[in-house]
Amino acid sequence: MKQFLSLRDLSSAEIDSLLANAKGLETNADRSRLEGKVLGLLFMNPSVRTLASFQSAMARLGGSSFVIAPGQNSWDMEWRRDCTMDGDAAEHFKEAIPVLEEYCDALALRCFAAGDHLDEDLCDPIINTVASLSKKPLINLESAMDHPCQALADWKTMDDLGIGRGKTKFVLSWADHPKALPLAVPVATLDMALRRGMDVTILTPRGFELPQSVMASAAVLAAGTGSVLHETNDQSEAMDGAQILYAKSWQSTVAYGDPEYEAELRACARQEDWQVRESWFDVALSDARLMHCLPVRRNVVVADEVLDGRRSVVTLQARNRLYTQMSVLCHLFPENQE
Ligand code: CP
Repeated sequence: MKQFLSLRDLSSAEIDSLLANAKGLETNADRSRLEGKVLGLLFMNPSVRTLASFQSAMARLGGSSFVIAPGQNSWDMEWRRDCTMDGDAAEHFKEAIPVLEEYCDALALRCFAAGDHLDEDLCDPIINTVASLSKKPLINLESAMDHPCQALADWKTMDDLGIGRGKTKFVLSWADHPKALPLAVPVATLDMALRRGMDVTILTPRGFELPQSVMASAAVLAAGTGSVLHETNDQSEAMDGAQILYAKSWQSTVAYGDPEYEAELRACARQEDWQVRESWFDVALSDARLMHCLPVRRNVVVADEVLDGRRSVVTLQARNRLYTQMSVLCHLFPENQE
């Protein structure tokens, strides 16, 4: 494994190997495994879990890391080609990426979608630009359309709980939020759930269905794994027999880049009540679980009664970020490589 940009790039055997190694690292980590290695963490957007867990992972394996947050602790940076840099950005990725790679052994990047043009964001332009400039292992810390670190941790979380393989009903649901959030987590979660062979229902209010191209790829994947893929706007229909509810808010794809239309659609959704409450689980399996990648706005996205109740596994998901990322780092730096 030379890069970690998407679970889509990995074979089933590679994913199984990452997960098996992560399990071992929970109880037995070689504290000098990455001695002398440096990870460069480039954050174009904020983070708690991704930043803290990667720094902790490097430290626990004997390596170290540095953090660059353009506009916060460093120069604003530009990534677009052929632009005139007369705005806030003082540095271009064309210089910054090779320079940073002189100081580290692997680079990791967080670069959210701009949220203005769906076609452009679907191409994941920033991570692909950096991949084209990078000569060292590159890790995706959440790009416009993918969050493989979260997806891998979520995969392990379901394995730990002994749920979510085969004919398990997995509901990926839109939930309320005051802001238009990126599509990276729902797209990565959909892919992960199908790859595990689960039956996936996508639950959204009207106007928040996932992009057609994402659904087309998902349909191909579902056909390959024998999964059932279903979309609905009906909460009861979706939750009937559900084992897992994965809640997440995301930007409307029909109102993409149009804040007024987006606000209209959200106001309509609010009338139907898209905050996850315990009553959602009335028709689910009795031991159904709630998953969310965090951060989560309490009593907006998910009610206290669910987050504080027996169903919530959000802390376990966050905990698993550490071990799955330690595993990714070990795979990027094989022991016999010099
Ligand atoms: N889930 C996740 O990536 O959390 P952060 O945005 O805090 O890193």
